[in-house]
Amino acid sequence: MKFLQTIGTAVLALSSLVGAASFSNPLKNPNGSDPHIAYSGGYYYMMTTTWTNLSITRARTLGGLKNGETKIVWTDSNPNRCCNMWAPELHWVDNSWYIYYTAGRNGANNLDLQRNHVLKGGSDPFGSYTYHAQLSNVWGIDGTIARFANWGNYFVWSCMSGNLQSLCIAPLTAPGRIGNTRVLSTPTNSWERNGSPVMEGPAAMYHGGKTYLAYSASFCWTPNYSLGLLTWNGSGDPALSNSWSKSGPVFTSANSNYGPGHNGFFQSPDGTEIWNVYHATQIRTGACDGNRYVMAQKVNWNSNGTPNFGTPVRLGATLAGPSGE
Ligand SMILES: *[C@@H]1O[C@H](CO)[C@@H](O)[C@H](O)[C@H]1NC(C)=O
Ligand SMILES: *[C@@H]1O[C@H](CO)[C@@H](O)[C@H](O)[C@H]1NC(C)=O
Ligand SMILES: *[C@@H]1O[C@H](CO)[C@@H](O)[C@H](O)[C@H]1NC(C)=O
Ligand SMILES: *[C@@H]1O[C@H](CO)[C@@H](O)[C@H](O)[C@H]1NC(C)=O
Repeated sequence: MKFLQTIGTAVLALSSLVGAASFSNPLKNPNGSDPHIAYSGGYYYMMTTTWTNLSITRARTLGGLKNGETKIVWTDSNPNRCCNMWAPELHWVDNSWYIYYTAGRNGANNLDLQRNHVLKGGSDPFGSYTYHAQLSNVWGIDGTIARFANWGNYFVWSCMSGNLQSLCIAPLTAPGRIGNTRVLSTPTNSWERNGSPVMEGPAAMYHGGKTYLAYSASFCWTPNYSLGLLTWNGSGDPALSNSWSKSGPVFTSANSNYGPGHNGFFQSPDGTEIWNVYHATQIRTGACDGNRYVMAQKVNWNSNGTPNFGTPVRLGATLAGPSGE
């Protein structure tokens, strides 16, 4: 009887835990730079920048990522892409998983050699990956995929336009190949030029028939690193800057989280919510290194249909988990 009571209490405790589906941030600290999460087949898959290799952490709940199963999926001895691995993202393209990431040569003084690369996986995001392709042969970082109704898939990344770190776009003609490159947007607003002019870390979001690109603005070694937003007009060529309007900053330092940015978006398990995963630091002057941690919170929507990112929540605050956990 005592034994059964104990089991009953344990089951009750477990089910209230599962039913509550609450969690708190951060999901990873330190080494939570440039986070990306994909939800698929009952698991969240999280990747962050760890510089030396690419690893994936998976869990069945968002909070579970704190102690999730972690697997190193890529190390590389090719000197042209061995090192300074940044900003890995998992994407499902043409019936396979691919990891788009940035890499270059060894040493912090070689960052001018950073390029976008892609690995090919299979049907299981937690499976194995082989080297697939380098996307272009000039400086380029933070590549991601954006999908446009009637236009197809595009590759969007951070590139140099003159001396301005900007966003570039090109049709993705195959998972490892891009067409004609165009500059999509340059950092012309004062809030994009704190420390130095920067646009980087693009991330596509789709809601209410609209296609958005969030991106990170200003230099990461400032507290003014923040998110800006590009909104597609829905019909013009996505590779032309005239087809887009810019607004921002839409997400800035708050509650002792500084320089929130380099975000990604993922869906709740039931597909009803869009979540923003981003990094921030407790260092008041900003940080570009492993002192950044992973945060996740739900995107809300204004009555006119535009996204409301809110403000970075205080570390440790209890939040309701994604719908359908
Ligand atoms: C974070 O990453 C840096 C650079 O790879 C490494 O030196 C450091 O040990 C890592 N910190 C932790 C706590 O893993
Ligand atoms: C992968 O990178 C991490 C973080 O820098 C490091 O601790 C670990 O030793 C690396 N493992 C391999 C197999 O490269
Ligand atoms: C930069 O961020 C700091 C800290 O949040 C803030 O006090 C300052 O006003 C910001 N500067 C600009 C130019 O936005
Ligand atoms: C969208 O942008 C293109 C320019 O690329 C323009 O020709 C078109 O009229 C715009 N459409 C709408 C609905 O604003």
